[in-house]
Amino acid sequence: MPKPPRLIVVANRLPINRVGSGPSARWVESGGGLVTALVPMCRAQRGAWVGWTGAATSRGAAVRPFTHEGIGIRPVTLSEAEVDGFYHQMSNRTFWPLYHDAIRTPDFDHRWWRPYFEVNRRYARAAASVAGKGDLVWVHDYHLQLVPGMIRELRPDVKIGFFLHIPFPPEELFAWLPWREKILRGLLGADVVGFQTHASALNFVRAARQFAGAEGPEEQLEFEGRAVHVGSYPISIDTPWFEAQAAEAETVREAATIRRRIGGNRKLILCVDRLDYTKGIDTRLRAFELLLERGRFTARDCVLMQVAVPSREPVFEYAEMRTRIEQIVGRINGEYSEPGRVAVHYFRRSLARKELVAYYRAADIMVVTPLRDGMNLVAKEFVATRLDGSGVLVLSEFAGAARELRRALLVNPRDIEGVASAMEQALSMPRSDARQRMSILRMIVRRHDVAVWAESFLESLRR
Ligand code: ADP
Ligand code: G6P
Repeated sequence: MPKPPRLIVVANRLPINRVGSGPSARWVESGGGLVTALVPMCRAQRGAWVGWTGAATSRGAAVRPFTHEGIGIRPVTLSEAEVDGFYHQMSNRTFWPLYHDAIRTPDFDHRWWRPYFEVNRRYARAAASVAGKGDLVWVHDYHLQLVPGMIRELRPDVKIGFFLHIPFPPEELFAWLPWREKILRGLLGADVVGFQTHASALNFVRAARQFAGAEGPEEQLEFEGRAVHVGSYPISIDTPWFEAQAAEAETVREAATIRRRIGGNRKLILCVDRLDYTKGIDTRLRAFELLLERGRFTARDCVLMQVAVPSREPVFEYAEMRTRIEQIVGRINGEYSEPGRVAVHYFRRSLARKELVAYYRAADIMVVTPLRDGMNLVAKEFVATRLDGSGVLVLSEFAGAARELRRALLVNPRDIEGVASAMEQALSMPRSDARQRMSILRMIVRRHDVAVWAESFLESLRR
């Protein structure tokens, strides 16, 4: 009997990061939505994962492949100059802002193209060396947009999928990119190109027609004599894991401790994000400030807890955002805190996944207000942990998740008055209304979990 095809994930980051060097080096869990979503799927399929070790390595130093919790790890190493040119600059100062509505002005520097190209080629070669005939090679995200085309040249005998975890911008913005045709040709090397939303898929189709000469209908483009299937596949979470974790006695105890510490009957407004300027952390804090200024609720009634994971710190725009957030937190606390009643708790750190679930359980309200976000898994994770159907989700219309989670309180994150009013509405929402909304939201994340997402993409790829 022929062997079933193997799944090979190719993503910038491995699910674990290498910390330290030499014999004292160890591996720790890495973060972000991409890793969270792909780990359960890759483990279930006993797949292989090609990705970066997470730290710069001296030239020529290779890290041997190994197996981690059922996943075959094939590490890619990057020099310090490559981490800068490929990751910090081209990926995170060109593509990231450009694809997020140019919230920050993207930089286009020709010196970054070479490292981007060369690192993409390294990933493509690594994937080509791991894949067997007929295997499914699934490439992820904006760091690796040239990889599908490169793999096709090296290994026309495998199936190639590409999934973009962040939005694909409208044609007018994409047109800014000096390397737009090269990027499109890279992506069109895949058999299936997937996006979080239909809007992103349409943007891509328009750009591919306009700048790369692709033809044909929306879902089945024709490019250089091949069919390229384009579709939207909204990503999700490992709902059963979050439900089980939320039900654990230890989580319940931990959540009760958090509630006791913030003080008796105060309502807990929780916010959890990577410390990124796309997440709208600053505008949401200003909305909370406005809420306190209006005076209907005080620091005796409620507390906002912002958990922010440090991210991409060497990039100027991230350091700037951190300073800004910390200033606003200081200002709000200076103005509105009372003895024993801090208005804003700010934690700049990563939490263990289990600890995070305890925070989700402890919260009354979750406020997720990105200015633009491919999906936003935090919103779905919160919903999945609300086993008793309580809790209110305030969600930005500009998160991909808002396409599905329609019964959240949807807000325009730039409308600070509107966000403040939604927070007030959440604070005063009758229990029965909250429960009704939450039960619908829960049904959605139960029906459409990460396994369903992966299977629907892979089914398109196998076709
Ligand atoms: P992004 O991928 O842009 O970071 P998402 O909301 O889609 O945004 O995914 C973030 C992931 O990181 C979620 O799975 C969430 O559980 C995790 N995460 C967010 N904040 C923390 C934190 N403080 N500690 C640990 N994990 C976190
Ligand atoms: C987003 C991106 C991922 C990335 C993650 C964390 O989810 O779509 O590709 O891995 O953020 O960012 P980092 O730069 O730390 O990998």
